[in-house]
Amino acid sequence: MIEKQDELRETASLLAAKGKGLLAVDESTPTIGKRLAGINVENTEANRQAYRGMLFNAQGLGNYISGAILFEETLYQNHLAGGTMLAKLDELGIIPGIKVDKGLSPLAGANPIETWCKGLEGLAERTAEYYQRGARFAKWRAVLQITADGCPSDLAIKENAWGLARYARTCQDSGLVPIIEPEILMDGDHTIERTAEVQERILNEVYKACEENGVLLEGTLLKPSMTVSGADNADTASPEEVAKITVRTMDRCVPDAVPGIMFLSGGLTEEDASVYLNTMNSMDRKSPWSMTFSYGRALQQSCLQAWKDGGDTAGQKALMARAQANSEASMGDYVSGSQPSSQATLFEAGYKY
Ligand code: 13P
Repeated sequence: MIEKQDELRETASLLAAKGKGLLAVDESTPTIGKRLAGINVENTEANRQAYRGMLFNAQGLGNYISGAILFEETLYQNHLAGGTMLAKLDELGIIPGIKVDKGLSPLAGANPIETWCKGLEGLAERTAEYYQRGARFAKWRAVLQITADGCPSDLAIKENAWGLARYARTCQDSGLVPIIEPEILMDGDHTIERTAEVQERILNEVYKACEENGVLLEGTLLKPSMTVSGADNADTASPEEVAKITVRTMDRCVPDAVPGIMFLSGGLTEEDASVYLNTMNSMDRKSPWSMTFSYGRALQQSCLQAWKDGGDTAGQKALMARAQANSEASMGDYVSGSQPSSQATLFEAGYKY
């Protein structure tokens, strides 16, 4: 029996509130290192503190962002201006979350590129501590890939779905809302229809495993990739096609009890991530859940560069622009180009978070 059921329901619905989404700022130390290297900044704890502290000092950010997903270092870090990073988020009205998976490992018995997600051992103790510290939700990123030689295998789908469900149930026992993230990488030259077929298999398996593990769906959020064609497929789907097929996939597979679908950006450009989300929210659909964003790269790309070029105020302005754009997109109100954005490609083969 999950004790904090009411609190889980309440947290999940606050996170999925109308017009709001999540800021994913939980890059692991090597991954944030790559971002900082892109602007010639050294990957030191002081620089990570300065950069992320700048994000958490963007006045008004809480109008667009309901929650921020943190890496463990940030959860326990102080802000340069004094006090904790958590206190800064609290001032903005942003709920803190925590990445709890421990990364990917090769999946024995599957295709060599397939992985399982580590972190279940000791998870109950860690989630209890994170709750104590102030976190109210968590994230676990399982990764699947589509290839011409049969990936994802049934084994990879089963293992990753089961891991997500075990994680979700463990988080709920500690009072953390689990974000269930079965990401399908954009790597490959497959069609959008092939992505849809694979994503349906994965989501069905995930919700079957959630049922078997007694997960309270009202106290979860789903973080899928959008249903797009492979990055190397020359026939790039239009925003309308992506939106139509993504909504169809979600309608077919995501139970009505789930309060929100928070899409990841997965290597889409900032502008595409906003336009696709906006198009989805402008069309008819059957299901009641909200469809919003939980973007990392698509919220931080122009912000990083602006921070490098113009300091904190410039960085915050760029972040606010993308946060507002995506907030509007989550309500179907975004006018493409109304906010500055980057169309630089954010796709990276074999991406790690
Ligand atoms: P992207 O939006 O950069 O894909 O990151 C979101 C995230 O949290 C991936 O786990």
